[in-house]
Amino acid sequence: MRKPNIAILGATGVVGREITKIVDELKIDFNEIKFLSSAKSAGTELEFQGKKYIVEEAKPESFDGVNIVLASAGGSTSQKFAPEIVKRGGVLIDNSSAFRMEKDVPLVIAYVNDEDLKKHKGIIANPNCSTSQLMLVLKPLHEKAGIKRLIVSTYQAVSGAGLAAINELTANTKASLAGESFENKCFKKPIAFNVIPQIDVFCDNGYTKEEMKVVNETKKILHLAVETPISCTAARVPVYNGHSEAVDIEFEKDITPDEVREILKNSFGIKVIDNPENYDYPTTRDASGVNPVFVGRIRKNLAFNNGITLWCVADNLRIGAALNTVRICQKVIEMNLY
Ligand SMILES: NC(=O)c1ccc[n+]([C@@H]2O[C@H](COP(=O)([O-])OP(=O)(O)OC[C@H]3O[C@@H](n4cnc5c(N)ncnc54)[C@H](OP(=O)(O)O)[C@@H]3O)[C@@H](O)[C@H]2O)c1
Repeated sequence: MRKPNIAILGATGVVGREITKIVDELKIDFNEIKFLSSAKSAGTELEFQGKKYIVEEAKPESFDGVNIVLASAGGSTSQKFAPEIVKRGGVLIDNSSAFRMEKDVPLVIAYVNDEDLKKHKGIIANPNCSTSQLMLVLKPLHEKAGIKRLIVSTYQAVSGAGLAAINELTANTKASLAGESFENKCFKKPIAFNVIPQIDVFCDNGYTKEEMKVVNETKKILHLAVETPISCTAARVPVYNGHSEAVDIEFEKDITPDEVREILKNSFGIKVIDNPENYDYPTTRDASGVNPVFVGRIRKNLAFNNGITLWCVADNLRIGAALNTVRICQKVIEMNLY
C-alpha cells in the first residue's frame, strides 16, 4: 500500500497536539509528516516519534505534495486553505464547522458512516464534539429499534473552547477562592463554580449554534429524516476535560434497558459502566485521556413510549475531535481514498 504525506494544520493548538499524539498511537503509516501553525508559533520545535520538527507557518505552498491534511486551526483558516489543498490533489479532514453541513462534504464518525467517505470531493468534515460521542452510542441502537425522537442535554468541559478557556477556569477558580474580582473573557459569565447555559451564539429560534449542531449533524450522520424531532440544551460546566450528556431516546420499536446494555457492550468504541447499586456509572474522570465513549444509567424512560434514558461521557478532545480525525485518516488510507 502506498504511504501518504501528511500535514497537521493547527499543530500547536489543544486539538492539534492531541491529533499528533494519536497519529503515533494509531500507528498511522505515513511517508512524510509536517506541522503547520500561524506565524505566531512558526519556528517552535516539536518532538515526534523521536525526531525533532520545526513548526512551519501555513502558506498555500506548504501543501505541495501533501496527500492528507488533518486540520484544527479554526473555520476561517480551513476556508482559506481548503481550495489550495484540494487544487493540489490533497484531502482535507477538517475539525471546524466550516464545511460540515455542505452537501458534497461527508460528515463522518469512523465506524458509524464510513461508506459516506467514498463520496468525498477533497473535503471531509469531523462533527462537533457533543455530536461525535453520541453517534457511536446511537448508531447500533438506531439499527436495532429506529430512532423516533431524541432529547439531549449536554454538560461540556472548558477544553472544548480551547487553551484560553482552560486557563480561564484555573484563573477564575483561584480568584474566586481568594475573594478577588475576575474579568471573564472566554465565557459570558464566570465559569468557576458555575454552570453556563450558553455555548456559542444564539440563533433566531432561541437555540444556540452548538445545540443546532447536535440537531443537524445527528440527522446527517445517521441519515435520519429531516423532520425527525431532535432537541438539545448545551451547558458549559467547570470541568477541564470530558463532556457528559443525558440522552432521552424514543424508538420506533420496543427495546429494553437490558437489550440496550447488551448491544452497547458489543459495540465498537463503547464501554458500559452501569451498576448503580455499587455507584458504578461513568464520570468525566473515567473518560478523560482515554478513547472509549462510556455509557451508564441505562433505564426505561418514563415520558416516552419505547423510551430509553442514558448517561454518556467521553473525552471531547479525543472522540470529539482528534481521535475521530485520525480514525478518519486511517479509513481514508485503508479505503485508498486519497
Ligand atoms: N477544543 C475542542 O474540543 C474542539 C472540538 C472540535 C473541534 N474543534 C475545532 O478545532 C479548531 C481548533 O481548536 P483548538 O481548541 O485546538 O484551538 P486552539 O488551541 O486555539 O489552537 C488553534 C490552532 O490553530 C492555529 N492557527 C490559528 N490561526 C491560524 C492561521 N491563520 N493559519 C494557520 N494556523 C492557524 C494555531 O496556531 P498558533 O499557535 O500559531 O496560534 C493553533 O495551532 C477549531 O476550529 C475548533 O472549533 C475544537
